[in-house]
Amino acid sequence: MEKHFAVIGDPIQQSLSPWMHNAGYKALGVKAEYHRFRVKPNQLAEAVGGLCALGFSGWNVTIPYKEPIVSLLDTLTPEARRAGAVNTVKIHEGQRIGHNTDGAGFVRSVEAEINGFQGKKAVLLGAGGAAKGIALALAEQGMSLHIINRTPEKAEQLVQVIQRWGGTATSGEFAPGKWLEDVDLLVQTTSRGLLNESFPFSINGISNRALVVDIIVNQRETDILREAKLRGCRTLNGLGMLLYQGALAWEFWLGGQAPVEEMRQALKSQLFQRMFDKG
Ligand SMILES: NC(=O)c1ccc[n+]([C@@H]2O[C@H](COP(=O)([O-])OP(=O)(O)OC[C@H]3O[C@@H](n4cnc5c(N)ncnc54)[C@H](OP(=O)(O)O)[C@@H]3O)[C@@H](O)[C@H]2O)c1
Repeated sequence: MEKHFAVIGDPIQQSLSPWMHNAGYKALGVKAEYHRFRVKPNQLAEAVGGLCALGFSGWNVTIPYKEPIVSLLDTLTPEARRAGAVNTVKIHEGQRIGHNTDGAGFVRSVEAEINGFQGKKAVLLGAGGAAKGIALALAEQGMSLHIINRTPEKAEQLVQVIQRWGGTATSGEFAPGKWLEDVDLLVQTTSRGLLNESFPFSINGISNRALVVDIIVNQRETDILREAKLRGCRTLNGLGMLLYQGALAWEFWLGGQAPVEEMRQALKSQLFQRMFDKG
C-alpha cells in the first residue's frame, strides 16, 4: 500500500521537502508520496486530526508549529523532549510520536567545517523551534552557547533548558556585542530573511575564524551570509541542514538508509529551477 507523508506549516510555499523526499522514494522504489500543506493559525489541531484520519504515516512540521504541536502528540522521543520542539511525527500503531531531527541534522551538516565542537563557542540568533533542537545538539557536542533573540525571555528560557541538561549557555541582547570577537560558530535561526527581508543588525567586528550558518534555505543569499563572506568568514546556507534533517526523518519513518545523494541533487535542482522561474 502506498504510504503518505507531508510537511505542514505557514507559510509553506518555500518548502523544498516534497522534492527531496519524492526523489528519494523514486531512487529506492519506495511506494510513497510526500505532500505539503499550509495550515492556517488556530487550525493545527484540526489539521493533525485530518492527517491521522486520512491515514498519513507521518509528517514534518515547520514554522511556526514545532512547539505548538507538542501538546497534540501521544509521546515524544528523547530528542524531542529535550528540545521541547518537534519537526517529525510518526504514526505507529495509532500513536502520534514526536521526534526532532533538526539538531542532529544541523550537526551533521557543519561537522566537516568545524573540526571538532568540544570547548568552542557558538552564538545562536533566535530561540524558536529550530533553534531549540540546534542548541541542545551543540551543547551535547560540548560547545558553549550564547543565545540572543528578539524576545529576550525566550532566549533566557532556552538557556535554562540547556543548563538543566548539563550544558553551558548564556543569553544577551539581540544586537551586536562582544560575542562577535570570539565566536567560532554563528547560527542564524530566525525566520527573518525567509521572505528576503534584511537582517536587523550588522555583524561588523566578527572574528574571521567563525563559520557563519544561516539555516534559511532560499534562492538568494541572505544578508548575513553576504556580510560574513565580505568579512572573511566561511559560510553555509541551510541546504545541508535541510538535507540531513530530512534524511534522518526518512530513516525514522521507513528504516534503512536514506538516499542522501539523490535527495541532495533534487534539492539543488529545485532551488535552481526556482531561481530560473523568478528570473
Ligand atoms: N534548513 C533547515 O533544515 C531548517 C530547519 C528548520 C527551520 N529552518 C528555518 O529556520 C527559521 C525558523 O524556523 P522555526 O521553526 O524555528 O520558527 P519559529 O519557531 O516560528 O521561530 C522563529 C524565530 O525567529 C524569530 N523572528 C521571527 N521574526 C523575526 C523578526 N522580524 N526579527 C527578528 N527575529 C524574528 C523569532 O523571535 P521571537 O521569539 O522574538 O518571535 C524566533 O526566534 C525559518 O526560516 C525556517 O525556514 C530551516
